[in-house]
Amino acid sequence: MNIAVFASGRGSNFCAIARAAKKNDLAGARISLLVCDNPRALVIRRAKEFKIKTLLALREDFYDKASFEHAIIQRLKADNIDLVVLAGFMRMLSADFVKTFRQRIMNIHPALLPAFKGSTAIRDAFIYGSKATGVTVHFVDALMDHGPIILQEAVKIGRKDTLPVLEEKIHKLEHKLYPEAIRLFAKGKLSVRGRKVLALTR
Ligand code: GRF
Repeated sequence: MNIAVFASGRGSNFCAIARAAKKNDLAGARISLLVCDNPRALVIRRAKEFKIKTLLALREDFYDKASFEHAIIQRLKADNIDLVVLAGFMRMLSADFVKTFRQRIMNIHPALLPAFKGSTAIRDAFIYGSKATGVTVHFVDALMDHGPIILQEAVKIGRKDTLPVLEEKIHKLEHKLYPEAIRLFAKGKLSVRGRKVLALTR
């Protein structure tokens, strides 16, 4: 099973997934392609280290969002991509894109959705004074940080936790949950009924 990881930044989730694939821990799935929209992203270097091909897709090279996404879709089809994995990709995918890969796009979010959507979720939960937050892996629909939840796990926010401590806890959990969700998908164990992901045995 071929995965395309979409990322714009650091790439710690990319590495966790690539490492799991290398250890044969993804039920036969492997990252075949990195799609990156930021030429300065650290994840590009990570992909080189793992000898994984990168498609650098720059939005400014295209007339509009539709042609930008069309070029990406063409490449995903040419590379026989079965699953799109969003890992810190800082762009919303259009409804058309989502339809093309219906229930074959996953995202990871560093909070317990539907709480704390958006790009500053860890900080937002911390500043809000939540006693717990967590990580959500979900299928992607056309809305932001939205779609049927695959895996979700909570993290306690201790009285003495600082923001960096909480960030570390969240990322550690992400690196466990994302490979786990991909493994379930690769084993054909995820089926979506309406808003719910069923037939889940971990
Ligand atoms: C992660 O916290 C993920 O939950 C969010 O973006 C961040 C990406 O981090 N969607 P990294 O680039 O994988 O290190």
